[in-house]
Amino acid sequence: MTQDNQIIIFDTTLRDGEQSPGASMNMAEKLRIATQLEKLGVNVIEAGFPAASEGDFEAVKAISQVLTTTQVAALCRANASDINRGWEAVKNAAHPRIHTFIATSELHMKYKLQMDANQVLEQAIGAVKLAASYTDNVEFSAEDGSRSNPDFLCKIFEAVIDAGAKTINLPDTVGYAIPEEFSELVRYVMKNTPNIDKAILSVHCHNDLGLATSNTLSAVKAGARQVEVTINGIGERAGNTSLEEVIMAMHTRPGFFPYTSSIDTTRIYPISRLVSMITGILVQPNKAIVGANAFAHEAGIHQDGVLKNPMTYEIMKPETIGLSKNSMVLGKHSGRHALNAHIQGMGYNLSKEELDKVFKQFKNLADKKKTIQDEDIEALVNEGVLRSSEVFALEYLHVVSGNKVFPTASVHLTINGKSVKKASEGNGPIDAVFNIIAELTGTKSELLRFTVSALTAGTDALGEVTVRLKENDVVALGKGADADIITASALAYINGLNRLEYLKEHPAVKPEKLQHI
Ligand code: KIV
Ligand code: ZN
Repeated sequence: MTQDNQIIIFDTTLRDGEQSPGASMNMAEKLRIATQLEKLGVNVIEAGFPAASEGDFEAVKAISQVLTTTQVAALCRANASDINRGWEAVKNAAHPRIHTFIATSELHMKYKLQMDANQVLEQAIGAVKLAASYTDNVEFSAEDGSRSNPDFLCKIFEAVIDAGAKTINLPDTVGYAIPEEFSELVRYVMKNTPNIDKAILSVHCHNDLGLATSNTLSAVKAGARQVEVTINGIGERAGNTSLEEVIMAMHTRPGFFPYTSSIDTTRIYPISRLVSMITGILVQPNKAIVGANAFAHEAGIHQDGVLKNPMTYEIMKPETIGLSKNSMVLGKHSGRHALNAHIQGMGYNLSKEELDKVFKQFKNLADKKKTIQDEDIEALVNEGVLRSSEVFALEYLHVVSGNKVFPTASVHLTINGKSVKKASEGNGPIDAVFNIIAELTGTKSELLRFTVSALTAGTDALGEVTVRLKENDVVALGKGADADIITASALAYINGLNRLEYLKEHPAVKPEKLQHI
């Protein structure tokens, strides 16, 4: 296979990204992200780990039925039952891929797998042969590759390519590699795997030392032609290589990185927001490319320079990643058509019913807030669309509070469409609301974290609340946004409870059960 200058973008937001603590997504949310990833132009979407849970299986299957141009990969351990299950999930995809993996480092083979190198080799060959009997699009990963013996890596890669693997992946599973060392390893593998020309070499880096993007780019310079990435760099522990950083490094420094990809960079910012909204994982303000401060200039000397010529302090244009400079675009007099056009420009395609809901909320918000910004619209789309088919929904909320009154709240909810209501007191208005919601829903979650932030500047800004809830060892994040922060808190709490409900119905297999083949 020719290793030309086209870089294959393999997105694992829905698999490794979902392994971030508390980031689990329901089927509708995964489908929404998958659809946007396809529009972004990624070549492969790793949609999940079908053998891990019924929910993962169903989500991979549903994504396979919807995507038309992007390849859909199912992750499977190197054993027959995982591979059979993985194939069952992706077989109806327009372009299915089976991604099978086994650990190859001494440490993992000895302690985790309790197998010797020959057994691992045989297991890998058997798994790839079985996968190749289903599809010619098979990827093999050598888990903990960066800490594996380089000669063993070459041996197993040669064998799995002979067995039918078309992509071989070298992961830095624990984020231990250093760029120079990692690129040397890539060069070594390219040079010492005799049939490497029959496969694409891929890399998959974790960010434990903050080096995932550097390691990935160094590997590309050394010959890797597939990069495994996630939106906002979410993933296990410190996360995975972030898609936006790799793409924008290549875009901004084409002289140094003379490579191409099929990514539409103007969709980067919208999808970053969407993933953050859905997973509840906030993007740190100083995060490269998509952080709130990535294009903000605070120092006077910088502001002066940027006004004279943006290139003085901006190496990228905000528009390139889909961040509109003039975000103050819609207001009270904007019509349905203008709202829809704007929403489409932000990367969302709503059905007529969805648009109806969002438009209604938009009009309500426009009565309270003079200017509506992109962040507000995203929040409306999130509230009005992404939550439509959940178990618990807020119908009505009335709160009385102040410095001389005892806080009381009255809450009406629907539970699976059936109305319930209650009024009560609390230590504060939010405490009163949360107690009532917990009672009405019969849930016993513990509130681990509660944060409030403003989505935009100004006292009329939408408040965004994030909660972290725990029930019987299951942790879920919930998010809510509204001009009223008590309503935003109620929405966030209910969103967290819905996520807990989903996790109860779709229990993921515990990590320790996934260790052994
Ligand atoms: O980090 C890792 O090694 C993985 C593999 C399954 C590719 O996620
Ligand atoms: Zn990983």
